[in-house]
Amino acid sequence: MTEQIDGEAVAADIRAELQSTVDSLADAGERPTLATVLMSPDPASETYVSMKQNDCEELGINARDIELDLDEPAEALFDVIDELNADDDVNGILVQSPVPDHIDYREVLERIDPEKDVDGFHPTNVGRLVAGYPQYKPCTPHGIQKLLAATDVDTEGKDAVVVGRSRIVGKPMANLFIQKAPGGNATTTVCHSRTDDLAAKTRQADILVAAAGIPEFIDGSMLSAGVVVIDVGINRVDADTEKGYELVGDVDYESAAAKASAITPVPGGVGPMTRAMLLYNTVKATGLQNDLDVDLP
Ligand code: GUN
Repeated sequence: MTEQIDGEAVAADIRAELQSTVDSLADAGERPTLATVLMSPDPASETYVSMKQNDCEELGINARDIELDLDEPAEALFDVIDELNADDDVNGILVQSPVPDHIDYREVLERIDPEKDVDGFHPTNVGRLVAGYPQYKPCTPHGIQKLLAATDVDTEGKDAVVVGRSRIVGKPMANLFIQKAPGGNATTTVCHSRTDDLAAKTRQADILVAAAGIPEFIDGSMLSAGVVVIDVGINRVDADTEKGYELVGDVDYESAAAKASAITPVPGGVGPMTRAMLLYNTVKATGLQNDLDVDLP
């Protein structure tokens, strides 16, 4: 029997645990605040950001919502970031990517105070992660670690294959898998668009993370029996639906599920976990910035 991994349920458990921490922070007179900045040409970004804000409000985290017009100069975005960095009431800052082409996302990330970088994308936080003492783990790979733990998948000694090498998922996922720490200790292969004979590599996987951003890129013929499949893809493809599109993952679900011992669906797998771990980092940031011990799930 193939287990369908329920990301909504695991994320709900994490949110419930975070709720008690947020309540304790409130007793100590602190209410976490997350500022989201939206200046994205991708139509999906607005939806993602509003979901992140709703999540915050449900937990009693303040959500500050800043939107910039797409044709504003980079300086306008940098000014916003500078103000949020300097504002003691703001604990976490997230600039939704992508940003318009005239803005260098790298400069954006480097502008955010690393102590408020709840995405974990600032070079200081990337460095901490690679060096083995992460402060803010990037939300998607951290969520995948939590999802694997909740599914009783032990990563230690396993062959983990990550398909995709993005800053947001592939690179930090590989770094988390090789940490000498719970959720790590995996023998890790990173594949990408220039990988020769991809299927030979993916067939080695005990745990496969598909994060290439290509619809149904991985199918069952590329997998070995018993693999645990984590599908990070959320691709909008044209379809005869009310919205004119449907969401598909990076994995061809039917053929992959026929091989897998466990697999995440799209939607309802990794997506809710990413959002839960953003709340986690925001709560963690609030504790660190106020010298308060906080319980984290
Ligand atoms: N765009 C897609 N995923 C993410 C994310 O996790 N953080 C930010 N800031 N932008 C994104």
